[in-house]
Amino acid sequence: MNHRLMSKTTGFNRRDFFMGASALGAAGRALAKAAKPASGRIIGANDRINVGVIGTGGRGTYVGHVFAKVGKDDSPCQVVAVCDVYQKRVTLNRQYYAKNYSAVDGTLDYREIIGRKDVDAVIVATPDHWHAKIALAAMDAGKDVYLEKPMVHTIDEARRIVDAVKATGRVVQVGSQTTSAQQWWKAKKAIADGAIGDMIMSQGSYHRNSTGGEWNWEIDPAAGPDKQGDDHVDWATWLGPATKRAWDADRFFRFRKYWDYSGGIATDLFFHVAAPLNICWPQPQFPHKVMAGGGIYVFKDAREVPDTFHLVAEYSKGHTVVLTSSMANSQHIPGLIRGHLGAIIMVDHGMFEAPTDHITLKPEKKVVDEAYAAKFGKDETQIPIDQEDSMDKHVKNFLGCMRTREKPTLDVETAARAQVLISMAVDSYRQGRVLYFDEKNWKAVPKPTRG
Ligand SMILES: NC(=O)c1ccc[n+]([C@@H]2O[C@H](COP(=O)([O-])OP(=O)(O)OC[C@H]3O[C@@H](n4cnc5c(N)ncnc54)[C@H](O)[C@@H]3O)[C@@H](O)[C@H]2O)c1
Repeated sequence: MNHRLMSKTTGFNRRDFFMGASALGAAGRALAKAAKPASGRIIGANDRINVGVIGTGGRGTYVGHVFAKVGKDDSPCQVVAVCDVYQKRVTLNRQYYAKNYSAVDGTLDYREIIGRKDVDAVIVATPDHWHAKIALAAMDAGKDVYLEKPMVHTIDEARRIVDAVKATGRVVQVGSQTTSAQQWWKAKKAIADGAIGDMIMSQGSYHRNSTGGEWNWEIDPAAGPDKQGDDHVDWATWLGPATKRAWDADRFFRFRKYWDYSGGIATDLFFHVAAPLNICWPQPQFPHKVMAGGGIYVFKDAREVPDTFHLVAEYSKGHTVVLTSSMANSQHIPGLIRGHLGAIIMVDHGMFEAPTDHITLKPEKKVVDEAYAAKFGKDETQIPIDQEDSMDKHVKNFLGCMRTREKPTLDVETAARAQVLISMAVDSYRQGRVLYFDEKNWKAVPKPTRG
C-alpha cells in the first residue's frame, strides 16, 4: 500500500478514488496531494450554501429538489452541480434546475464535485455500497455531508464514518428524515420523565404487499455501458467497491435485491425504524445480541435478499427490540415502546415514516402508584403531535448545523447504533446464527465478549 496516498483522518486510500475512472481531473489531482483534510469554508448566518448532489436517481433527484426549495424559501442554499454515472439522470437533473432555479454543472465523476472549492456540502444518494467511500472522501475535502440512509453498507464503514467526523469536525446528517418528526422527541421526553419506567421492549414493523415483486422497478432497456449519449452508464464506477461483473440491468435498476449493494428490508426499511427508536431511548445504544430470520417466500426471481424478514435484538441494559417485515403481506404490528409502568404507542398504523397526529401513553394500571398517577394519570392519554414536513425540517436542520457547527438531528453516533443493529441482522440472517457485538472492536462475533 502506498502510504503517501492514505488519508490520515479517514484511513481511506486515495488510489481508491480513481478506480474505474478514465481521466483524472485537476480537482482529483489536487485532492490526492492534500496531506490533511481540508477545513471547509466558514459559513455565516446569511451566506448562501452551495450543494452538489451525488447520485441523481430517485432519491437524489428528490432530495436535491428539497434543498433547492428550502434554499429559496428559508435557509439560503442552492444546488450548483449534479453527478450520476448514468448520463440520462445527469441531463434530466440539469434540465430541471435550469428551468426552475439556475443552471448547474453535471458530471459522471463524483470527484469533480468533491474537488470543487465552491461546494460546501454534498448529498450522497448513491446505492448503499458507495455511501462510505464518497462520504469519507467528501469529509477529507472539507465538505459537510447529507448522507442518505442506510448510513453505510458495513459495520466497519460505520466506524470509519464516526472516526472521520471526530477527526474532521464535519457536519454529517444521516438521511432518515423521520427522526426529525416531533413524535420521537415527545416520546423521548415522556420516557425521560418516567412515563413508562424501566424500558422492556421496543417493537415495530414494516409491511407491504407488492404484486410485481418488491423492488422490481422499471428497467430502461436502452441503458448500458456500451451505449452513447444519455443512455450511457459508467458501469465499472457504479460497481465501485463491489465485485466486478458484466453489465446487469437488474442489478443497476433494482440494486436492493442484491447483497453486494444493499441489505434488502433491513437496510432499506428497518433503518427508518431503528434510527427513530434510538432517538427516543434515553441514549442511543449498540445491540448486545442479534438474531434474524425470514426467507424468500414469494418472490422467487433472481433476488438474493429475503422478501420476509424479522429480527430480535437484546441490549445490555435489559431491553429487547423486535422488528417484523414482509414485502408480501401488508399487516403490521403496532410500533410501540414498552416499560414496566406503561407503554407508548408510536404508530397505530404501523408506518414508522408516516405522519401521525398523536402518540398514546398507556399506563400499566395495576403497577403504577399514586405519585405516577398524579404526574401522568392512570388512564390512556394521547400526546398531540404538530403536523410538520419532516423532510424539510431534516434538511433545514442540516443547513442550520452547517452554520452553527452543532450536531444535526441524526448525527453519525446515533445513526451508527441503528446501522450496527441492521447490519448485524443482515449478517445473522446470512450466516444462520446468533451474533454478539464486540463494542470495543466494532465486530459482530459468534460468542459474547467481556468488557
Ligand atoms: N431517506 C429515504 O426515505 C430514502 C428513500 C429512498 C432511497 N433512499 C436511499 O437513497 C439511496 C439511493 O436510492 P435510489 O432509490 O435513489 O436508487 P437509484 O438507483 O434510483 O439511484 C442511485 C443513483 O446513484 C448512481 N450512482 C451509483 N454509483 C455512483 C457513483 N459512484 N457516483 C455517482 N452516481 C452513482 C446510480 O447511477 C443511480 O442513478 C439508497 O441508499 C437508498 O437507501 C433513502
